[in-house]
Amino acid sequence: MYTLNVDVNHNKNMKTEDILCPLAEYEECDFSKLLEKPRLLNIDRQRSLDERSLSELSIGLSPRHSNRATELNSSRVFEPLDFICSPVGRRSGFNTPRSHTGFDPHPMVAEAWEALRRSLVYFRGQPVGTIAALDNSEENLNYDQVFVRDFVPSGLAFLMNGEPEIVKNFILKTLRLQSWEKKIDRFQLGEGVMPASFKVLHDPVRNNETLIADFGESAIGRVAPVDSGFWWIILLRAYTKSTGDTSLAELPECQKGMRLILSLCLSEGFDTFPTLLCADGCCMIDRRMGVYGYPIEIQALFFMALRCALLLLKQDDEGKEFIERIVKRLHALSYHMRSYFWLDLKQLNDIYRFKTEEYSHTAVNKFNVMPDSLPEWIFDFMPVHGGYFIGNVSPARMDFRWFCLGNCIAILSSLATPEQSTAIMDLIESRWEELVGEMPLKVCYPAMETHEWRIITGCDPKNTRWSYHNGGSWPVLLWLLTAACVKTGRPQIARRALEIAETRLLKDHWPEYYDGKLGRYIGKQARKAQTWSIAGYLVAKMMLEDPSHLGMVAIEEDKQMKPLLRRSNSWTL
Ligand code: GLC
Repeated sequence: MYTLNVDVNHNKNMKTEDILCPLAEYEECDFSKLLEKPRLLNIDRQRSLDERSLSELSIGLSPRHSNRATELNSSRVFEPLDFICSPVGRRSGFNTPRSHTGFDPHPMVAEAWEALRRSLVYFRGQPVGTIAALDNSEENLNYDQVFVRDFVPSGLAFLMNGEPEIVKNFILKTLRLQSWEKKIDRFQLGEGVMPASFKVLHDPVRNNETLIADFGESAIGRVAPVDSGFWWIILLRAYTKSTGDTSLAELPECQKGMRLILSLCLSEGFDTFPTLLCADGCCMIDRRMGVYGYPIEIQALFFMALRCALLLLKQDDEGKEFIERIVKRLHALSYHMRSYFWLDLKQLNDIYRFKTEEYSHTAVNKFNVMPDSLPEWIFDFMPVHGGYFIGNVSPARMDFRWFCLGNCIAILSSLATPEQSTAIMDLIESRWEELVGEMPLKVCYPAMETHEWRIITGCDPKNTRWSYHNGGSWPVLLWLLTAACVKTGRPQIARRALEIAETRLLKDHWPEYYDGKLGRYIGKQARKAQTWSIAGYLVAKMMLEDPSHLGMVAIEEDKQMKPLLRRSNSWTL
């Protein structure tokens, strides 16, 4: 039933030039060509880390597979992404990075750097992270903490600017927090859980500093963050890729930290799906929003973290066992996601015509989804060209909402096939007003209202329609959109979005989120000077200026993981 129907001719970016284009003409180029140009330097080191593919690591697969893997391995050339990141951290200026293209940077860039530096948090004299928001006008809640997920764009900005130390400090400090004993009431959490956030406590009497962390025991709703551990692995790989310094990831404590995170999410149980079962609010959307079950954000981050771990784990006795489990899980996960989470016009029409109450292996409607559960809005929202990974799939329940983070990470991790990646970008272009509007970018679409809002959010006054997590617009998502645009060879889309953001972000003092159908209003309870809005903007800017930064956060498709997809030349029904 679930097959991908993509018009292979509908690739707007197919170009024949195979030269590296000057930046001004860059948007005319196919990004893959850019990736092909070897730029460096410390190639051997990069190679040992990134060349490992699923085919090389096909332990546990059938002997037929293994032989084939060896064959492929011997003739293997570098993955394009092996070349695209200089391992030598390049500093483009301390406070105000200079433009590599010779153009003056936007005046906002200098302001953003200053604001980002003001958000630095120090522990015993060393910078270890950035505070979530520097807004003194509002009650702090927990915005005075360093959030693991929020630090990712900050860390990337520093890496891109040739300042890797803070990222290293952050990785090592959070690793120490992971080893704490974590209890919520009388219940002990898994050893591998990474904190949602931490803060530095100054004791003026004893004149010392300590760290305190929150693993969900103080969070609203008491949910442990599932995404933190994944982001930690993703950032460790970005650090390694950007600096060429493999020694951090090779530390026994980093290897152990990764294994602990992986133990939590690879454990076997009652699951019949390879996706990860989660509680509501365990990720960026950290309160009740109907994202329990198998939310796309977590599944995409899970996939990305598994692929990063595969590149970072040592092939020692302990590492090998995990590598084997990761390889198997990646195969199953990509198949499941690409088949069952994918929605385009053809698939939508199939669901619309589903028979229900089928039994046995021949069932087409495997999860017994009722066509009546299709929401009205989806029929207009779905463009002729385009598609996306839907929010959630579980028995008799498909959440058809579009979520930004999960779809962008699906592109960056190559969970999405190249055709699916193109389709996701096509959809963003055709639904520009809905998803970008007057401020990029919607965290999800559409908002829930009235009865649905009452039931699903539990009457949450912060998550009213078109606000906060319920269809609000979050500037931080700009970096993810930009990275996805660069990877799919569509930088002009990111440029358009950035221009919109630049008309307001600084003037509005870098709000956390915007409200309204078009994102016209500063969010009702949005913090100002929200660090990830600032860092997200900087990362987007730097990535557009120097697309080779993409290598830190993107992984090419593993050719051995080809999905079982049927292609058709037509989108028509
Ligand atoms: C809010 C967001 C969460 C973020 C935190 C700190 O709780 O929902 O994603 O990490 O603020 O900025």
